[in-house]
Amino acid sequence: MSLTPIGEPRHKVTIASLRDQKLHHELITCLTAYDYATARLVDEAGVDMILVGDSLAQTMLGYDNTLSVTMDEMLHHVKAVRRGVKNALLIADMPYGSYQVDTKDAIRNAARFVKEGGAEVIKLEGGERRADLIRRIIDAEIPVAGHIGLTPQSVNVMGGYKVQGKNLGAIEQLMRDAVALDRAGVACLVLEGIPREVAAMITAEVGTPTIGIGAGPECDGQVLVFHDIMGLTFGPAAKFVRRYGDAAALITNAVQAFRADVRSQQYPSDEESYHLPKETKAALDTVLMRKRAMAR
Ligand code: KIV
Repeated sequence: MSLTPIGEPRHKVTIASLRDQKLHHELITCLTAYDYATARLVDEAGVDMILVGDSLAQTMLGYDNTLSVTMDEMLHHVKAVRRGVKNALLIADMPYGSYQVDTKDAIRNAARFVKEGGAEVIKLEGGERRADLIRRIIDAEIPVAGHIGLTPQSVNVMGGYKVQGKNLGAIEQLMRDAVALDRAGVACLVLEGIPREVAAMITAEVGTPTIGIGAGPECDGQVLVFHDIMGLTFGPAAKFVRRYGDAAALITNAVQAFRADVRSQQYPSDEESYHLPKETKAALDTVLMRKRAMAR
C-alpha cells in the first residue's frame, strides 16, 4: 500500500503510473475540482487524478443537468484548476455537443483542453460506437479517458439517471463497450452506475484501470464529485455518495457569524483597522482643533 502523507514530496502521476497502480493493486483515487483553491487542496492531499467534470454544470453553474455547459465554460474552469495542480493527473471532461457532431470538431475541441487549458487527458462518454473517435483523438497525441454505464449526457435517452447493466443483454453490451475502449487505448475507464458484479468482470477483463462511481469496490479506483463528499450539493445524494465533511454547515455558520459581528459592531476591531503614523495623526489633530476653534 502506498500512503502519501500530506506535505511529503510526491511523484507526478502519469498514465503509465496509473497502469502500474492497477498492476500492483494500488487503488487509484480521483476527485472532481473546478477552481484553483479546491484543486490545490485536493492535489496536496495526495489524490491521484483530478477531473474537471462537466458535473460543474450543476455544482458550480446551477444548471439542471450537464447538457447545457459549453466548451468555453469548461475551459475557464480547466485553466483555473491547472494553476492549482502539481502532481495529480489532470483530466478535462468534453461537454455535450463538443465531440458528437464530427471528428474534426472533436479533435479540435480536445486539443483546446490540452493547448489552452493544460489538461493531460480528456474524457468523453460512450461505448464501442466512440472507439474510432477515441483512436483519432489518441492519434492526435491526446490521451483519452472513457466513461460507460450511466452516462449523464445521455439522460434523455436513458429516461433519467438509472443504474445500467441490469440484464444479460445490457451486461453483454457493457462488456463489449469496455473491451472496445480498452482496445482503442483509453488511459482509464470510468464505470458509472452499474452493478458491482459487472464492474468486477470489466475490471478483470481490461488492461486499462477502471475508475468506479457507483460501481462497487472491485474497480481499480474510485471517483466522487467534490461537492458531494463535502455536503455542498442541494438535492438528495445518490446511494454511492459518502459524505466526508459538512462544508455547507461550515460556510453557513461563518457567514452568519460575520453578519452578526458587523451588525453588532464587533467587526472590524481596532486591531483589524489601519492607523495613521503618529506624526500625521498629531498634525491632523492640530488641523481639526484649529478648524473647530474657527467655527466657534
Ligand atoms: O462530470 C463528472 O463529474 C464525471 C464524474 C462523475 C465521473 O463525469
